Amino acid sequence: MLTRTQIRQLVARHGREIIEHDHMRIERRSYQHGAVTTFAHSIRVACLAVWLADRLHLWNRVDLRSLIRVALLHDYFLYDWHDWDDGEHVFHGFTHGRAALHNALADFELNRIERDSIAHHMFPLTPAPPRYIEGYLVSMADKVSATRETLSMDRFRKPSKSKPAASAASAKSIERGSRA
Ligand SMILES: [Fe+2]
Ligand SMILES: [Fe+2]
Repeated sequence: MLTRTQIRQLVARHGREIIEHDHMRIERRSYQHGAVTTFAHSIRVACLAVWLADRLHLWNRVDLRSLIRVALLHDYFLYDWHDWDDGEHVFHGFTHGRAALHNALADFELNRIERDSIAHHMFPLTPAPPRYIEGYLVSMADKVSATRETLSMDRFRKPSKSKPAASAASAKSIERGSRA
């Protein structure tokens, strides 16, 4: 069974290209749920998805690298959906899987598991379910993390936008477990 440290090391290693990409700076500035940034949320989803695959003994059916990359890119829509934009983000819950895939394709080379799982991670909010087990794991991890983050009391200690939380931008800091 993988430990928390081992899981963080796996996420840092297989997610390095994504974690250290310049556009992740946008995710570090955008709040996702409560006081949690989209970046921190994505790291949590990646760790939880790996934990689920491990505890459910799915390693003979799951591609670890794809699983981690899907989790890190599932919300790669690169805007803060709380910002007012003339109502364009009203359908955020339904549309951001596609937006994330569109952006991810511009920045990374994705395999078919990664493409499908990013696009369909919001199922059942969107009609089509994921086609691969990696998509279901990320979808499950996402819902658990989102619920915890939304209900956390930390939301009342959210730092102001003009003074975003300091964050280390490297895979190394994820491996060490410093706050994302
Ligand atoms: Fe999402
Ligand atoms: Fe998410």
